Amino acid sequence: MEKRILQTELCDMMGIKYPIIQAGMGPYSTNRLAVAAANAGVLGIISTSGFGYLRGAPARRGEGISELVKTLTDGKGGTWQEQMKRALHRVKEETRETKGIFGINCMVSTEMAGFAREIIQTTIEARDEDTEMKERLRVIITSAGDPLPLTELIKPSGVRWFHVVPSVRHAQRSERAGVDAVIASGQEGGGHVAWEPVHTMVLLPAIVRAVGIPVIGAGGFANGASLVAALALGAIGVQMGTRLLATRESDFNQVHKDYVVKSGERDTIVARGVVGPLRWVKNEAATEFARLTVSKAPGVYLGEPDDLSAVAREVVDMENRGWDAQFRGDGPRALLPAGEVAGLVDDLPTVKEIVERTVKEAEEIIQNMPSRFLRDQP
Ligand SMILES: Cc1cc2nc3c(=O)[nH]c(=O)nc-3n(C[C@H](O)[C@H](O)[C@H](O)COP(=O)(O)O)c2cc1C
Repeated sequence: MEKRILQTELCDMMGIKYPIIQAGMGPYSTNRLAVAAANAGVLGIISTSGFGYLRGAPARRGEGISELVKTLTDGKGGTWQEQMKRALHRVKEETRETKGIFGINCMVSTEMAGFAREIIQTTIEARDEDTEMKERLRVIITSAGDPLPLTELIKPSGVRWFHVVPSVRHAQRSERAGVDAVIASGQEGGGHVAWEPVHTMVLLPAIVRAVGIPVIGAGGFANGASLVAALALGAIGVQMGTRLLATRESDFNQVHKDYVVKSGERDTIVARGVVGPLRWVKNEAATEFARLTVSKAPGVYLGEPDDLSAVAREVVDMENRGWDAQFRGDGPRALLPAGEVAGLVDDLPTVKEIVERTVKEAEEIIQNMPSRFLRDQP
């Protein structure tokens, strides 16, 4: 009998082989990761928050910034928009042979709203200027903010639009905004998490039930078993962050990858981060930073949103020192975003190896389920 393969609506909608999205993970531009992901048959995502450093005030995060900037540019200078477009073109060229599919991630929180519009405009322009770009840069994934003001900017361009959401209310608002799919992002995920925590096991089916558009799971996905679980809960695919950060091609520095590999499932902690609560690897710096968050920015743990203007200066300063140490690879002092799923990550393979073993495991689980769990009636 012909072998049946895993294919979902996400594959059909995006033209990808496997129902997996490589998560946007700033402030690195994840160029190399996006290339590896797209070439491995999943959706590669270029992260754009780092381009803010090319745009202004790089001094605010200290010396390590030059290490980050090196990963964002090809050293040829120009405006940040020109540099970003060149990054998009590099990804396009390096995925030409496989006809890989990719997109961008853009955080649209209030603090970043103006810059986010420019990022989106630059992306749409790059697509309009180049037929091949239009063909293969297929999606804009927005996150961390309100999608409604973006409808008129994104929809006329024809690019697909996904929005990352932490609750049913945000998912319904995204549906009203006209997004093509929502990414339900559970509290176990790496990087930004919600002010009011709901984990993937509850969030994903709650959103599937509440909206009439496709839903993708994020937060806690690292292998075939969790991919199957997401499909069982009603998703059309998963977005993987922490698992793909810990790969050979990922743009993150070695220290960050090593922390993810050696972390157990209890080795992450939520504290303040840029625009709200953020899940970090629980090292010395993050533990101290969580203590400071408890005393100076308790809204993070009480579900009471504040914005940068209201946060104590010492919180912002300590976070900036942590980012700087991250870019310099100074382990104990670095603040390193990662998800709980770091506890399931114990190697540093290539993206292709992760994708292939995830899909193989998922297919085997699905094929074996009937014989394992369905009994003939006596
Ligand atoms: C290092 C790191 C950086 C991240 N940066 C971003 C970002 O710039 N924009 C965004 O929408 N999400 C960001 N995220 C969240 C991811 O896109 C993704 O939703 C999350 O990692 C999924 O959970 P997982 O880590 O359990 O796979 C980041 C996550 C990590 C681990």
